Amino acid sequence: MTKSKIKTIGVLCSGGDSPGMNCAIRSIVRTGIGEGLNVYGIMKGYSGLLEGNFIEMNASSVGNIIQHGGTILQTSRCPEFHDPEIRKEAFHILKRKSIDALIVIGGNGSYAGAYDLHQEHGIPIVGLPGTIDNDINGTDYTIGFDTAVQTAVEAVDKIRDTAHSHARTFIVEVMGRKSPAIALHVGVCTGAENIVLPSEDLQTNQIATDIKRGIKRGKSSSIIICAEGEVPGLSYRIQEELKTEHQIDAHVCILGHIQRGGNPSAIDRFVASRMGYVAVKSLLRGKTDKACAYVKGEVVTVPLKESLGKKDKYLPQFIDLARALSI
Ligand code: F6P
Repeated sequence: MTKSKIKTIGVLCSGGDSPGMNCAIRSIVRTGIGEGLNVYGIMKGYSGLLEGNFIEMNASSVGNIIQHGGTILQTSRCPEFHDPEIRKEAFHILKRKSIDALIVIGGNGSYAGAYDLHQEHGIPIVGLPGTIDNDINGTDYTIGFDTAVQTAVEAVDKIRDTAHSHARTFIVEVMGRKSPAIALHVGVCTGAENIVLPSEDLQTNQIATDIKRGIKRGKSSSIIICAEGEVPGLSYRIQEELKTEHQIDAHVCILGHIQRGGNPSAIDRFVASRMGYVAVKSLLRGKTDKACAYVKGEVVTVPLKESLGKKDKYLPQFIDLARALSI
């Protein structure tokens, strides 16, 4: 039992869902109850918080969810939360519900809201990195990434069967408006001829060169992995440019939200379970503005402030790897 002043905690999911969020919720609820806390699930992220949409959780509320994708608490993107007045309202709702501390499972935008809420109103908050994009500062891993990559890799393997049988080129678009992580991993794991990243200018000439080089040395299919980027339609633009400028026929396949769903992998279940446990324990040890992070195989907490913003420092080595293997 805890001697902390914290008696009641709230947990919410925010931003895009990711496989493993349920494992994190289960871990938070069960660790909290084991510590004698009252635990409330807040439905639909910050939007549900503002509507006062809270559910008291018990050990059974999180039974039989560990294997399911999505989130039983549902989630939302809540642009209104950028407004300090709205955050003030959120804080008063939390106070009225006697919530002493909050655990926020989400990505960059969710962390920014959590940080501002803590800074302005002092409520203790711990963030859990829940996004398929694996792009949060200060953590090597975010919950859902492994499952999303595996889903995309399985899809590309299937596409490769047809690509090989018909000697075709496919452009396969994976998720990542701003994050290159899924595209890089999927590209390396499927032996893609070229990977188009959101941060780079489109190099259709290079893509064409890579496709032609493969064909010249006897390859019967080509796979281009393309991160969706911020402007919709990138894959179709590449298809058009390959056709008109290089006389290459390519098919487009956009994987879309299948990458966000599905049963979480063992890695996602394990990391999420560890992080949920650490999040509750950290709050009870008096940590007030932290984020759980996976660093060199350990789950630790880092200052929430240091987790804001996107990471990109691991990229160059993976870009080099992808290029070295696609000759
Ligand atoms: O949550 C991350 C992510 O899946 C990105 O990879 C993608 O660009 C974006 O969310 C899509 O968001 P939405 O489902 O709101 O269209």
